[in-house]
Amino acid sequence: ERVVMVEQILSEFLLKKEDLKEVMRRMQHEMDRGLRVETHDEASVKMLPTYVRSTPEGSEVGDFLALDLGGTNFRVMLVKVGEDEEGGWKVETKHQMYSIPEDAMTGTAEMLFDYIAECISDFLTKHNLKHKKLPLGFTFSFPVRHEDLDKGILLNWTKGFKASGAEGNNVVGLLRDAIKRRGDFEMDVVAMVNDTVATMISCYYEDRSCEVGMIVGTGCNACYMEEMRTVELVEGEEGRMCVNTEWGAFGANGELEEFRLEYDRVVDEMSINPGQQLYEKLISGKYMGELVRLVLLKLVNEELLFNGEASDLLKTRGSFETRFVSQVESGSLPSPPVGSDSGDRKQIYNILTTFGLLPSEMDCDIVRLTCESVSTRAAHMCGAGLAGVINLMKERRSQESLKITVGVDGSVYKLHPCFKDRFHKIVRELTPHCDITFIQSEEGSGRGAALISAVACKMAGCML
Ligand code: BG6
Ligand code: GLC
Repeated sequence: ERVVMVEQILSEFLLKKEDLKEVMRRMQHEMDRGLRVETHDEASVKMLPTYVRSTPEGSEVGDFLALDLGGTNFRVMLVKVGEDEEGGWKVETKHQMYSIPEDAMTGTAEMLFDYIAECISDFLTKHNLKHKKLPLGFTFSFPVRHEDLDKGILLNWTKGFKASGAEGNNVVGLLRDAIKRRGDFEMDVVAMVNDTVATMISCYYEDRSCEVGMIVGTGCNACYMEEMRTVELVEGEEGRMCVNTEWGAFGANGELEEFRLEYDRVVDEMSINPGQQLYEKLISGKYMGELVRLVLLKLVNEELLFNGEASDLLKTRGSFETRFVSQVESGSLPSPPVGSDSGDRKQIYNILTTFGLLPSEMDCDIVRLTCESVSTRAAHMCGAGLAGVINLMKERRSQESLKITVGVDGSVYKLHPCFKDRFHKIVRELTPHCDITFIQSEEGSGRGAALISAVACKMAGCML
């Protein structure tokens, strides 16, 4: 009977097929409004043109530097773009990870970009490249309103970044200024792209049907190739342009209200950007662990878990990291019934004891059910979004059926043991007559940013 009461509380996370279809329809509606000039400003989904076009004119070969800012890790990479024997692509990389200190994330823009320039300088020194003026591709994973491939203003920070004086400014300008302030190396910043775009491009070179990019990591977002004639914010009718949907902001116009639970409201209110990125807050890794923690506390308060007593650590905000959700769910595939002998509780038990708890077998099973509920809802919500994008593409192309590849990256997609299977299943259910292939991008952002830079260099005729 305890299990019945737990299941009742968790049942709030279940989304019916009809609910998901409704989310999908509303997402499509906002996407449509985002693309149109007259409704763009009020649309929650901004549909930002990226200036990455469908008809590349070939590309340069050579060395490129790539920066990757906005995921779990900040990285600097050297990417060698070359041609292989068959005229295809060959890319080799060297990379280094740097952690961004909290005060650089939330101080001033100058501090943040000075720190980035310092990391580049360190990288160049280590690889003996300081004397070279390399072209640089910048993967900057935040909403940017582009004026060109190498120019765009940051609309607003997301995912816990808050450096002041960056919003409303040209991000490439901020980077160039910081490099100038140091004065110990030179760089030619040729392209700035969102991580979804870098991911799509890196997969495109393996699979020419790859016209969608998606990230489910710290944040959640997607981009896709849209017909130029419907991208009203950019002049021209021919061909396609990649649009960064910034769908994480979906919900700002109340589109998710009946689906948001008390836990979602707490997560939002406690966040650095309340009222923003509401769809992302239901899905991505920055919030998933915290959602689970809040549900666990609710179950404790109802005396359904840990004999009604939580530990201090469990009561601490942010203590239940999203990687624990992955670990809890990984011991038991497919998920066994609560209280059964199958399934491996050891992993769950170990995690909970590090929280200062002494869980019974039943407690372990309830924690697993809680993680499953939260992460399944995330997969389904996210699936409704992607199905919205894919169905829209199919409509645009007025085809009976659509064959499409989606390039994906991000820690939740890659590391959670069941997210991707649940996600693929729901996307396919919601996209009749579509043949969808998912590929995971490896080193996506570095390769993607470098490849776009190589194309940009060809067009601009830069000297390599
Ligand atoms: C990385 C990409 O692999 O995945 C980044 O290189 C991207 O550009 C990131 O932002 C997203 O995942 P996470 O989990 O690090 O936010
Ligand atoms: C956030 C950012 C978006 C990025 C996503 C994944 O939603 O706003 O630009 O693509 O996170 O990193």
